[in-house]
Amino acid sequence: MKGIVLAGGSGSRLHPVTRAVSKQLLPVYDKPMIYYPISVLMLAGIRDILVISTPVDLPAFRRLLGDGSELGVSFSYAEQAAPNGLAEAFLIGADHVGDDTAALVLGDNIFHGQGFASILAQQVARLEAEKGCVLFGYPVRDPGRYGVGEADEDGLLLSIEEKPAKPKSNRAITGLYFYDNDVLDIAGTLTPSARGELEITDVNRAYLERGDARLFDLGRGFAWLDTGTHESLIEASQYVQVLEHRQGVRFACLEEIALVKHWITPEQALALGERQASSGYGDYVVDVARRAGAADR
Ligand code: G1P
Repeated sequence: MKGIVLAGGSGSRLHPVTRAVSKQLLPVYDKPMIYYPISVLMLAGIRDILVISTPVDLPAFRRLLGDGSELGVSFSYAEQAAPNGLAEAFLIGADHVGDDTAALVLGDNIFHGQGFASILAQQVARLEAEKGCVLFGYPVRDPGRYGVGEADEDGLLLSIEEKPAKPKSNRAITGLYFYDNDVLDIAGTLTPSARGELEITDVNRAYLERGDARLFDLGRGFAWLDTGTHESLIEASQYVQVLEHRQGVRFACLEEIALVKHWITPEQALALGERQASSGYGDYVVDVARRAGAADR
């Protein structure tokens, strides 16, 4: 499975904070926002990741993430010249996906919950076996701000609407999507919506009409956090800060995930930690590497 992180957009709801900096590079407590969605792909076992952003912002993502080799993954980069919608990711990323399956995650989506890695592994396996698509649902107070889905008892998607005035359920469709290879063809047939965008909800509706769109519910024990406004951005930071401080762990620590997956050695992780050791994040990477057996240098 190939991964795509879409980190475009103008972040206008966060102006002036995002006038000169991409929203997805803003800190969510101790790390840039994009670390969180990248960690989701890595937890799903995906090592080949395309980062899509605006021509202006792309160099900053490259500077932050490099080619991924230090983490035992591959990061490549592509431009979205204009905000033409989420589904354009599959036109821009067609070569990257090739004849493989694909996971798309939005660069501002933050997921956290017990057992997420095994949920991801199960759903990747399900997609590879059954084809179609897998969407992830989450109950919210204000579903009309999102894509909204309804599913039957077996998790088969029954309806999907983008930002409906009268939502049929409280289940938002989160910004994490798993697709079979047909997504490339489907994306190629879309026409822009009333707001002039190629909508991911239209891609999902095409799968619904074929009868193989599935919705996995993340449920109330999970956190799917919004980062779209000044309030929600600081709340997301506070959530991460409170839990990390209480438990003495760091979420979405890319070095730790790479180490746990055996994509890098403890020594490599130690070197990555030492390079950032003047920060609490870097200290944590050093600790994790030492606990995994890296010898002091
Ligand atoms: C997009 C999608 C929407 C989805 C949301 C998740 O909305 O169009 O279906 O629920 O992401 O973050 P946007 O944030 O672009 O308004």
